[in-house]
Amino acid sequence: MDNRHQQQLIAEIKELRKEKNAIILAHYYQPNEVQDIADFVGDSLQLAQKAAATEADVIVFCGVHFMAESAAILSPDKIVLLPDINAGCPMADMVDAEELREEKAKHPGTKVVCYVNSSAEVKAESDICCTSSNAQKVVDSLLNEDILFVPDENLGKFVAAKANKKIKYWPGFCPTHHRLGKEDVLKARAENPEAKVLVHPECREEVWKEADYVGSTAGIIKYAESSPAKEFIIGTECGILHELQKRCPDKKFYMASDDMRCPNMKKTSLQKVRDALRNLSPQITVPEEIRLKAIGALERMLTVSK
Ligand code: 13P
Ligand code: SF4
Repeated sequence: MDNRHQQQLIAEIKELRKEKNAIILAHYYQPNEVQDIADFVGDSLQLAQKAAATEADVIVFCGVHFMAESAAILSPDKIVLLPDINAGCPMADMVDAEELREEKAKHPGTKVVCYVNSSAEVKAESDICCTSSNAQKVVDSLLNEDILFVPDENLGKFVAAKANKKIKYWPGFCPTHHRLGKEDVLKARAENPEAKVLVHPECREEVWKEADYVGSTAGIIKYAESSPAKEFIIGTECGILHELQKRCPDKKFYMASDDMRCPNMKKTSLQKVRDALRNLSPQITVPEEIRLKAIGALERMLTVSK
């Protein structure tokens, strides 16, 4: 897209945002130009908190389906837009409510902790949600010792390594993070011996065991900002580099692998944001019966995260 066309789209988005009293929320994995037009850029928890608290009439969620759905659960009186209706999360699709009900029936008394990367129906079957930044706090908040963690096995194992609880995992994973292997990290370290390795807990155990820091996208950014180190190897989706470079212009960032791009997060474009605002579509809604069952798990998470 040429620069003039881009500037025209940005001007139209700004105008429409004002006209519709809209807020644009974007995840750190979104394309750079989408992050730049957003009112707020954050990790999954920060975005859910913003969506729950906003006074805007319209929320344009630049992220993937489960994020917009969580916003629709938390703010039922708002119009929630997902600029590309096909922006899903393959990990969220790895568990469905029927399978979860069957598993719960086999283990009565088990508490279900569900990663926010899940459908509204799965949240409706869960006791509490978590994100990568509060998973430890959420698990620690449960008095119950038996926990079923869905759907991210890697995050579940990372949390279990620190918690004194019996945790069963669902065999789900994020394809973008799961692709990263220990050999990639070792190679990146050999090439950049001074660099600290910062990875997301959606990575495999063999990867987070090699890291200097493991945390959510917001956690990784905070760590890089406050660390005296000048070089970092990053083990999460490549969109995070935009915020890292903005906040730390004097530091160097190397991706742990060239293959860490989430195709769904990259489906948003300025044109789709403009069209979503102009047409107030595609809208994300959740049937009231499901919403009422799902909201408890999300609200309990927000309470624990305060
Ligand atoms: P966080 O935003 O919690 O870091 O999670 C990353 C992610 O994979 C979102 O899809
Ligand atoms: Fe889902 Fe992974 Fe993409 Fe996040 S990065 S939306 S977890 S596939």
